[in-house]
Amino acid sequence: MKSPLLNSLLVLLQFVIVSLTYDDRGIMDSKRRTSNVCRDTSECPTNAICEPRSGGVYDYMEGQCVCRNGYFMKASGKSRECIEIADYGELCYMNEQCEFRLGKESFCNNGQCSCKSNSHYVITENACFNSSKIGEYCRLTSNCVVDKTTCQQGQCRCFRKHHPNLNKSKCLRDINLNEQCFTDDECVVENSHCMSGTCQCKSSHVRSEENDQLCLPLATSIYQSCQQDMQCSSIPNAVCESTNGTCVCQKDHHDINAVRIIKDSSTNDELVTFEISFNFFQRCWSSVRLNGICESDENCVIAHSSCINKRCVCDEGFHETRDKFCSNAQKVQISFLVVALVVFTSMRLF
Ligand SMILES: *[C@@H]1O[C@H](CO)[C@@H](O)[C@H](O)[C@H]1NC(C)=O
Ligand SMILES: *[C@@H]1O[C@H](CO)[C@@H](O)[C@H](O)[C@H]1NC(C)=O
Ligand SMILES: *[C@@H]1O[C@H](CO)[C@@H](O)[C@H](O)[C@H]1NC(C)=O
Repeated sequence: MKSPLLNSLLVLLQFVIVSLTYDDRGIMDSKRRTSNVCRDTSECPTNAICEPRSGGVYDYMEGQCVCRNGYFMKASGKSRECIEIADYGELCYMNEQCEFRLGKESFCNNGQCSCKSNSHYVITENACFNSSKIGEYCRLTSNCVVDKTTCQQGQCRCFRKHHPNLNKSKCLRDINLNEQCFTDDECVVENSHCMSGTCQCKSSHVRSEENDQLCLPLATSIYQSCQQDMQCSSIPNAVCESTNGTCVCQKDHHDINAVRIIKDSSTNDELVTFEISFNFFQRCWSSVRLNGICESDENCVIAHSSCINKRCVCDEGFHETRDKFCSNAQKVQISFLVVALVVFTSMRLF
């Protein structure tokens, strides 16, 4: 409800007040007046001058001793002295000389103004401030010693789009996947690191296809969980089964936990489990039926078949049935006996 003009005036007024406060003639005058009444500078202590009282135009005959610019008044007992103000690194002989401008965290250290231990000099403020590291309590941004930190909610924190390194000794830029980087700890996406100049998922992970700022873990064996096929890519011929979120063998492939197909008189395709082999969960075998081309026994899915000369054939003691299964039934011998009997009988008949 304030008018813009009133607002501007208020801002101006604030500015004037602030300027006065920081003017050497403003608030600091109280630390420079010696309270000696004077008519002439010669009546004042060393390094003080006689200044007319305020409104001196009417009353210039009587003034007050004020320390020269660059000096402050120090009272000790009844005597009042003007003592030289010392800046950071300048010569001093008492702490007050330093504290006048550099503040309570400064002191006269072996004849030179410096900051107390665990405090530091801020050139833009020309003062010493208590030092706070990342995550430590602060009152002002000047307390925050680490580069690129500011005081937020009473703690020193990294700038926006920055994050602390592991030991919180510095703030690093937030670097996303595929953006340029110099060190691993710049990469902010979990399980990413700096590879060939850009942030990439670690080799144990793959970049998500749905969220380009996400690294998903690679499955190292069948039946580990997944959201995307890419996560099963280190297992040849595996895919991500989306209904239960696990890596499984793709169509026409099987893993060693799979079953062998047998033909039985009572139940068709009865299943018999494979023996577990060593590298079994790390791969998917292409499923090969009888007479198909194979690389190893694991390919042959028909029960009692093995890979011989790169073909799945029935094991010794088994024979291939008409419907392409392996059987040890005595069919051939029985039919042979029947034929033999028929032949024998015929021979006896003729
Ligand atoms: C600075 O640190 C000292 C010692 O820990 C403490 O006494 C003082 O109050 C601190 N000053 C400020 C302004 O926080
Ligand atoms: C913090 O880690 C950086 C490397 O990231 C190292 O240069 C520095 O010396 C470490 N600082 C401390 C205090 O351990
Ligand atoms: C997941 O689904 C596949 C195909 O439906 C199945 O073969 C596999 O056993 C299932 N895995 C689990 C852990 O349920």
